[in-house]
Amino acid sequence: MNADLFPLDTDLAIAPGAWLLPGFALGAAAALLEAVGEVLAEAPLRQLHTPGGQLMQVAMSNCGELGWVSDARGYRYQALDPRSDRCWPSMPAMIKQLATEAAQRAGFADFRPDACLINRYLPGNRLSLHQDRDERDFSQPIVSISLGLPATFLFGGLTRADKPARLTLRHGDALVWGGPSRLRFHGVLPLADGEHPVLGRQRINLTLRRAD
Ligand code: SIN
Ligand code: FE2
Repeated sequence: MNADLFPLDTDLAIAPGAWLLPGFALGAAAALLEAVGEVLAEAPLRQLHTPGGQLMQVAMSNCGELGWVSDARGYRYQALDPRSDRCWPSMPAMIKQLATEAAQRAGFADFRPDACLINRYLPGNRLSLHQDRDERDFSQPIVSISLGLPATFLFGGLTRADKPARLTLRHGDALVWGGPSRLRFHGVLPLADGEHPVLGRQRINLTLRRAD
């Protein structure tokens, strides 16, 4: 029996279908960062424009069969990195494994991620409240893994007007949301400045999803 697949008493139920798994990825953080570094060497971080023409603060890249992109034509997933016109780097097996285990811990036994968005926040960078709805199958959850500086994550309701709860996401934390929480609005407050012992003045977030 694999104890990792069952809730620990440190796991926090945030809402139906939403779990914060503090420190879930801590032991794997060094290997994760190495894998992310290899992805970013092939598909560097870049700032995207919203369909309305605004430059997004958070810099992004992807690995997996599909990558999330935004430009004047809209938000979507695509197989090619628009910067190189080549396929996104494949998703490192250890990242997929970790995300699948986090999903299982949160009660989603059949998570099959095909897309991993890599977000890089510098001090002051924020991500405004939004829903993740560019995916085909909302029965598949979202798994987010945080590295580097702590962030205040806003976890809202199913309408934009619902007052969001605030969660601190620290280095090594995983957050899973799916089922009745899959379409909750969420965002990130401006990143507070600081110096993380491993990552310095930044936060890296990996968001794994089933897009297709
Ligand atoms: C996202 O909503 O895509 C990213 C959330 C985060 O950075 O924690
Ligand atoms: Fe999101």
